[in-house]
Amino acid sequence: MFDTNTATQHLPRFSDILINSVESGALIGHIIPVNIAAVASYWEDVVASIGAGERVLMCATIDSEIAGTVQLYLSRETNAPHRGEVYKLIVHQQFRNRGIGEALMKAVEVEARKHARTLLLLDAVQDGEAERLSRRLGWQEIGVVPRHFVDPWGGFKSSVYMMRCLDS
Ligand SMILES: CC(C)(COP(=O)(O)OP(=O)(O)OC[C@H]1O[C@@H](n2cnc3c(N)ncnc32)[C@H](O)[C@@H]1OP(=O)(O)O)[C@@H](O)C(=O)NCCC(=O)NCCS
Repeated sequence: MFDTNTATQHLPRFSDILINSVESGALIGHIIPVNIAAVASYWEDVVASIGAGERVLMCATIDSEIAGTVQLYLSRETNAPHRGEVYKLIVHQQFRNRGIGEALMKAVEVEARKHARTLLLLDAVQDGEAERLSRRLGWQEIGVVPRHFVDPWGGFKSSVYMMRCLDS
């Protein structure tokens, strides 16, 4: 878990990881050509959100280098104190397919329980790696949103909304 100070120190690496994922085709909020200033600004907003207590940023490191990251957004709505949303699960291409994504998602669950968040939500591109990973970890499909996003090159993509109940 990264606090605001640690996250601030690693801002360039977070931007690198996000840009790397966009360039590998991920639907992660940005398109090609990547607007580097917008990516940097996004991460600055994440740090502010951590400071405001509304978000938890988790990272996996290998040899002191951040290999992957994920965020748990803690709903501030008074009628949803039990809800969390999973954002920006990203593993740098160099470190994929060795269990880091799974480890990050399991860390999300541990953190969610600490915050008494028993209902987790996420959306993932349909038929992508994140959907497959989530299903493997017990997430349930809620439904598909056709043409929810465009991919980094502008082609429409559908996404799957998923949920995970942590009551037990
Ligand atoms: C989705 C994402 C985070 C997965 O990260 P990851 O670290 O590669 O995930 P894992 O290693 O846990 O699992 C990926 C695959 O590697 C396999 N794997 C895990 N450990 C392994 C190992 N030691 N040896 C070989 N394969 C392994 C898993 O079984 C899984 O296989 P599958 O895709 O056939 O089901 C990554 O692909 C990514 O960053 N994508 C771009 C960003 C994105 O789309 N994020 C989702 C936004 S919702």
